[in-house]
Amino acid sequence: MLPEYLQMCLKDLLTKKIGLNFAGSGWQDFELRIAAAAKDAGAADALTYIQLLLDSPPSPANMGTLARHFTVGETYFFRHKASFDALAAHVLPELLQRRELDQRQLRIWSAGCCTGEEAYSIAILLDRLLPQQENWEISIVATDINPLFLQKAERAVYGEWSFRGTPEWVKDLYFTKGRNNTYELIPKIRQRVQFAYLNLAEGTYPSAQSDTDRLDVIVCRNVLMYFSTEEARRVVSRFRAALQENGLLLVSPAETSSTLFPDYSLVHYVGTSFYQPREAVAPKKPALLSLKQAPQAATQIKNMKTAAVNVPRIRPAARPEQKSSAVSWSRASKARITPTRIGGNSESAVELARLARAAADKGNLDNAAQLCEQAIAAEKLNPAFYYLLATIDQERGRIDAAVQALQRTLYLDHRFVLAHFALANLRLVEGRRKDAARYLETVRRLLQDYEADETLAESDSLTVGRLDDIAATLAASLNQDRHTAEYG
Ligand SMILES: C[S@@+](CC[C@H](N)C(=O)[O-])C[C@H]1O[C@@H](n2cnc3c(N)ncnc32)[C@H](O)[C@@H]1O
Repeated sequence: MLPEYLQMCLKDLLTKKIGLNFAGSGWQDFELRIAAAAKDAGAADALTYIQLLLDSPPSPANMGTLARHFTVGETYFFRHKASFDALAAHVLPELLQRRELDQRQLRIWSAGCCTGEEAYSIAILLDRLLPQQENWEISIVATDINPLFLQKAERAVYGEWSFRGTPEWVKDLYFTKGRNNTYELIPKIRQRVQFAYLNLAEGTYPSAQSDTDRLDVIVCRNVLMYFSTEEARRVVSRFRAALQENGLLLVSPAETSSTLFPDYSLVHYVGTSFYQPREAVAPKKPALLSLKQAPQAATQIKNMKTAAVNVPRIRPAARPEQKSSAVSWSRASKARITPTRIGGNSESAVELARLARAAADKGNLDNAAQLCEQAIAAEKLNPAFYYLLATIDQERGRIDAAVQALQRTLYLDHRFVLAHFALANLRLVEGRRKDAARYLETVRRLLQDYEADETLAESDSLTVGRLDDIAATLAASLNQDRHTAEYG
C-alpha cells in the first residue's frame, strides 16, 4: 500500500502534466497502474519510481511510460454513427463546396486519436466525397500522448475489434486481409494522415509547425472526460484559438457541457452537435445544415434551444412569496419548492443557496460549496440544495461527491428528474452505459407527466421538451454504440 501523501503528490503531478482527473471512480486501480509503470520504467519498485518522478520534472520517456499506463485506449472505426453521418452528409460536403471556390484547402485535427481509427475514418469519408484530391491541399493530423498508440496508428493494421461499429463496405473497400484476422489499411488512405505526439495539457498548440492552427474541424472525443475541469477548460480555449472562422469542434455526446464551452455555439445535426467559436457565427449566413436536405434534422433543430447535456444549473428554491409558472421537478414534491422549515431557518437557507449559486456562477467553486453546505445545514431536507451541491461538486471535478449529493437528492425526492438526468451523464462518463440508460429511461418516464413547453423550475430555462430531446438523443446514441449497427 502506497503512503497516502505520495499518492496525492503523484495524482497532482499527473493532473498537471497530463491533465487527468483522479477524482472519479475510474481510477480505483491507481496503485496497480503505478506498479506496472514502475516495472516498465525499470524502477526497483513503485516507491522508488514515484520518488524519481517527483524529484525532477519527468523526462519525455517517463511521460510516455506514464501515458501508456494512465490513459484509456478505447476506439474503433466510425465510432458514434450520428457524428459520422453529420460529417458525411453535412459538415464535409459544405466545407468542400465552400473551398472549391477559393483555396481548395482543408485542415482537420483528430486530437487524442488513440490508435488512429478516428482519423482514418475521416480520411475514408473524404475519399468517398472527394476521390480526386490532387488539386487539393488536405491536412489530417492526428495526435496523442501515448507513443505506443501512435506506433500502432502508423502501422495501420487492425483486428476485428476495431470494426465493431463499422459498416462492412469500409473493410471491403479500404482494407486488405492479413494474417490472424487482421486488416491492413490501403496505403492511399494511410498516407493521408500524419500522426504526431502532442500532449493536450501543454500549451504547444495552436501551431503552424504541427498543423494545429487554422483548422476547419477538430475532433476531440472521449478525451476531455478524463481531464480535470480546469484542464479541460484550458484545452477548449486553445481549440478555439486553433479553429478558423466557421470551424467546428466535435466532442463526444457525454462531453457536451453547458459550462465548458462558454465561447462556443452549438450547431445541431441529427443525433449530434458540433461546437463553433461564437464570434464565427454570423447570424445572417446560411446555417451549415441545409434544411432542405434534412427535413428530419430541421424538425429537431426547431425543437432544440440551447443544449445542456450536463447537470443543468439550478436556481435556489423559490421564496415562499414567489409564484412561478415553471414546473417543479415532480408534481408530488411541488410543495417542497417552498423550503420546509426543518431547522427553523429556511429563509436564510434559501438566501445561502442563492449566494452559493452566485459564487458558482463567478467560478468561486470552493466558496459556493461552503455556502451550499451551510444552506443544507440550515435546512436538511430540501432536495434542491443537494442538487445544487452536486452541480458545484461536478464543476470542481469531485465526481464521487457529486454522485453522493445526487443520491441524497433522490432519497429525499425520487421524482427529482434533473438528478436522474445528472446521474445518467455521470454514469455515461464513467462508461457505465447500462446504468446511464436506466437513468435516462426514468427521466423520460417522469417527463411524460408534463407539457413539452413547461420550464423545469430548477434549471436555467430548460424546457421539458428540450430535456426529453436530449435524453432521447443520449439514449439513442447509447443504444447505437451497444448494437454494433451497420453504418450507412
Ligand atoms: C478513449 S481514447 C479516445 C480515442 C478517440 N478519440 C475516440 O473517441 O474513439 C482517449 C485518448 O486520449 C489520449 N490522451 C489522454 N490524455 C491525453 C493528453 N494529455 N494529451 C493527448 N492525448 C491524451 C489517450 O492516450 C487516448 O488515446
